[in-house]
Formats: sequence, C-alpha cells, structure tokens
Amino acid sequence: MKIEKTAVKIGLEQPVKLLHVTDTHLALADERDDERKRTLAGRFGDPNAEKYLEEHIKYAHENCDLMVHTGDLIDFVSHPNVEIARTILKDDKIFFIAGNHEYSQYVGEAWEDNAYRMNSYMQMGYGLGVPMFWNSRIVSGVNIIGIDNSYYQFEDWHLWRLKREAKKGLPIVLAFHDPLYEESLYNEHMKRFPGRCTYLVGCDEEHLLPYDEFRAVQQRPTDATLRVAEYIKSEPLIRVILTGHLHFGFVSNLRDSLVQIVTGGEYEGAAREVTLI
Ligand SMILES: [Fe+2]
Repeated sequence: MKIEKTAVKIGLEQPVKLLHVTDTHLALADERDDERKRTLAGRFGDPNAEKYLEEHIKYAHENCDLMVHTGDLIDFVSHPNVEIARTILKDDKIFFIAGNHEYSQYVGEAWEDNAYRMNSYMQMGYGLGVPMFWNSRIVSGVNIIGIDNSYYQFEDWHLWRLKREAKKGLPIVLAFHDPLYEESLYNEHMKRFPGRCTYLVGCDEEHLLPYDEFRAVQQRPTDATLRVAEYIKSEPLIRVILTGHLHFGFVSNLRDSLVQIVTGGEYEGAAREVTLI
C-alpha cells in the first residue's frame, strides 16, 4: 500500500487526518448488463482496484478522521458497479462527491451534460444512495464541502451554497473531481501529455488554444464557473482543495493560504493522507 503524506497548516489546535482517494474506476458488469457494458468491463479495470479500495477503507478506519473520495468510484453505470458502490458508501467514514464516470453509460459515447447526468442518476435509483451533487460535513471543526464539478463547470447555486457555508466561520476543505486551473499544474499536464487538453476548470482562452475543438467547447468556462472559481480563490476560509480526475499526483497553491491537492488514481493504488494542522 503506497500512501503519500501531505501536511497543510491551517491553524488547528488538534490535527485532523483525511485519507484522500479518487478515481477507483470499478469496472464490473454481469449478465444483467448488455454486451457493450460487458465489453467495457475489461477496458479500464485494474483487477486490483477493489483490493486497493478495501485496504484504504481499512487504513482510514484505523488512522484517519475521514476518508474523502473525490469521484469516479465506478467507471460506468452497471448493475454490479452500482451495487458495490452503494454498499461501500453506506460507510459513514467515507465522504463522497461524484465524478464524471459516476454517470457514464458507455464511457465517452455521448455529450455529457446535466440531462445526461440526471438520466443516469435516476436510472441508478437516485444515484448511489448518498449526496452526489453537493455534500458537506463538519469534522473536528473543519467544514468539508463536496461539489460535483465533473463536467468542468460550476453553477450559480454552488456560489449561494458556498457563501452560506462560509457564514459558519470554520476553515473549509473543498472536495471536487476536476481541479481548478493553476499555471504550474497546467504546465505539468502539458509536459506529461503534450498537445492534449488539461481537464482543468476555468482555463482562459489563451490556455484553451492548444485544445481540439471538442475539448475547448467542453472545457471553456461559463460565466457562472468563473464566478465560483473566483470566489473559491478569494474566500479566506477556503484553505484546501482535494481533487482528482488527472490520475497523477500534484500539489500547488492557488494563493498563499490555499493549497490544491491532486491525488493519483486509486485504481493503481494511489492514496494520500492529508494532515491538517
Ligand atoms: Fe474523472
């Protein structure tokens, strides 16, 4: 088990330990699913993904205050994926917010938007049985807030809810699937995957230029997205962002007192213990 460790000073009297995991991509299908889904089951599935998840849950129970999962627990909607996810998420130790794959029917077969998301959500039977679009919980004086930004956008209601949460006056850890644009992370992605899009939320036009048309349209921020991103960067109570989607680890600052942590894919064993002090 390879668990990276990151400490962030946010001025707590007692440390709070979070185990951050993301992108498990459970990829099962059975005879109740159609042939296309059964073929997909072999696409991504690291056979060890479930084992890693179990190990991390055990580790969180023994060592951490909370496990934060930032989405893509499942790779696509199938009978066994939904059943397993629903069982796992009953565990109160796990705080979850959805990623793009939670709603994926056949992975990349369609334009993914709110209608597509809701179709899968209702097909699953109100999702995975836990809050998926917005989640919040106070743990030892830290306000953990999850936002589904998995189609690269925020919405105005996210801003309203964030402002309401900030009124509580507690330090905030945000959890969402797609990282916010930040220059060193953008450059790192371009270095690793030259000429590809970077999947970061809130890219300006200049940084969208290398993207192909499909990705530029998909990831060009709406006005609401820019408003929420600006608020996140300027609200002093927001101290840490936990995020995933990129399948590699990276830590950088959005401002002096705001750290964005990307953790690698749990499907290949990655996890990160974040100690807030
Ligand atoms: Fe993702």
